[in-house]
Order: sequence, then C-alpha cells, then structure tokens
Amino acid sequence: MTAAVPPRGTDRFDLTGRTAVVTGAARGLGRSFAVGLAEAGADVVLVDLPGADGVAETAAAVEALGRRSWTYGQDLADIEALAGFVDTVRAETGPLHILVNNAGTAALERFNEITPASWSHIMRVNVDAVFFLSQRIAEHMTADGVAGRIITITSKNALVAEAGLAHYNASKAAAQLLTETLAVELAPHGITANTLAPGMVETPIDGEFPFDREAFESAYRERIPLGRYAQPDECVGALLLLASDAGAYLTGARLVVDGGVLADQMPRMRFMPPYRNTV
Ligand SMILES: NC(=O)c1ccc[n+]([C@@H]2O[C@H](COP(=O)([O-])OP(=O)(O)OC[C@H]3O[C@@H](n4cnc5c(N)ncnc54)[C@H](O)[C@@H]3O)[C@@H](O)[C@H]2O)c1
Repeated sequence: MTAAVPPRGTDRFDLTGRTAVVTGAARGLGRSFAVGLAEAGADVVLVDLPGADGVAETAAAVEALGRRSWTYGQDLADIEALAGFVDTVRAETGPLHILVNNAGTAALERFNEITPASWSHIMRVNVDAVFFLSQRIAEHMTADGVAGRIITITSKNALVAEAGLAHYNASKAAAQLLTETLAVELAPHGITANTLAPGMVETPIDGEFPFDREAFESAYRERIPLGRYAQPDECVGALLLLASDAGAYLTGARLVVDGGVLADQMPRMRFMPPYRNTV
C-alpha cells in the first residue's frame, strides 16, 4: 500500500467526502459557514431552532452546489436532549467530520438588570450546548476513526469586556477555555478543537436595540481599524482553514477575525495624521 499523498496548494482546503454539522445555520454567520463548507466540497447538517425562518434557504444554497444537506430543528438549550439528538444525526447521515458550534445568543442588558433566566439561557446556548454537542460528536468521531475538527465560534468578547453583555462575555470566555481543554484531551485521537473569534459582523444577532443603533454603529466603526463591520462571508476563509487539512497542526488556537479591533487598544492612532508614503 502506498502512503497517501498530502494535498498541495488549494487542495489543502478540499472537504470532498466530509460531513459538517453547523449549528445556527438558518441565517447570519451560520448560513455563510454552511455554504462555505459546501463550496469546499462538504455535505452539511443544518441545525437551528424548530421552524427557524431561513433554514430552507440555507439548505437550497448547499444543494445548489451539488452537496447534500440535512435539516434538523433542535433547541440547543435543551441540554438533556443533545446526546440522543447527535446519535440520531449520526445514524441518519453517517460519520461526522466537522462540528461548527456557531449557534449563539446575546442580550443587551446592564449587569444589574440581568435575571437568572436570562443568565442561564445565554449560558445554556453559548456554553452548555457547545460542550455537550462537542462531547457527543467527539465520541462518534473517535468511534468512527475520524480525525475530526471542532470549531467553536466565540467572539472578541471572549477576550475583552464590553458593557451591557456580562453574561455574553462570560459565556464566550468559557467557550474559549472549554474548547482549549477539548484540544488537549482530543489530540491523541487526531481531533482538533479551535475557536474563531469574530469582531463585529453584519448579522441580525443584536435584535432590538435599547438605544440609537445608527449612532452606536457609527461610534463602533471608529474603533475598527479596517473602518467597517465584516460581512458574514469574510469569516469563511478562517473557518475553512480550521476545518480542513490546511489546519491539521492547528489545535487549541484562537483565530481572531475582527478587522484589527483587539490590536488597537490605545487611542493614539485616532489623533495621528493620516499615513504618508515616505519613499
Ligand atoms: N454578529 C456578530 O457581530 C458576532 C460577533 C462575534 C461573535 N458572533 C457569534 O457568531 C455566532 C453566530 O452569530 P450571528 O451573528 O450569525 O447570530 P444570528 O442571531 O444571526 O444567528 C444565530 C442563529 O442561531 C440560532 N439559535 C439561537 N439559539 C438557538 C438555540 N437555542 N438552538 C438552536 N439554534 C439557535 C438562531 O435561530 C439563529 O439562526 C454566535 O455564536 C455569535 O455569538 C457574532
């Protein structure tokens, strides 16, 4: 038997023959991730809330690329149901190679207004579901002999505080450390676990704004070195790196895709005159 030839060039990103699970696939980043994985050759399992608007559109976009899709309505906050849910998915779709823990939820609430219900809902979706889905899918990956990929979508808020989001910030920081721990525990099985931390992306996640959204967004843009929010598709390249053979040696890493926000913590740049070419 000849040894497999490692892929070269852009073939390193080829996902043909692999099946990816994307949570929160009905809209926003989840839809872009599902379609991006399909463009790279993967079949895609789409998970969102039962009856979520938009999931059929994501499925149609995946299938238009000639890839298979399966759609599941599952409330990820129902932690006790997740092991059985994963078993059903595995039985119906075959081996699972990639898990994208993308579904997430946020609420803009001052720390003193956060109720136990709001705190625990955000923790269940952003932390508990990430853990228990990853746990069961990793069990299937090892049973199937799959050197799988787990990618958890965190946020720049896993790394810096943002007012009005105490529960969300804490949940994303927890998701970071739980993913790093998975990286260590799953390494002997060839499974990698990494996080992708977006900055500000144009999606519906923030829902209702309790203040002037336009003023907020324009103030925020001033804090982004690239000067604009990301489009969801602009996070897909980073995801494909973590999902494919190109990222085989990346584990326990965090890939920040934030237009430079975290790099720019000091105000000097805002006072400096524009850059002039000196050559
Ligand atoms: N948009 C941003 O600026 C931004 C920035 C940093 C991180 N993120 C993270 O990226 C991920 C995707 O964000 P988005 O902006 O695309 O959000 P979004 O609100 O547009 O989409 C999230 C999807 O997850 C689904 N979902 C929510 N709760 C669920 C549950 N209990 N069970 C099943 N599905 C559920 C929603 O129905 C929705 O389709 C989230 O984890 C979010 O925290 C987003």
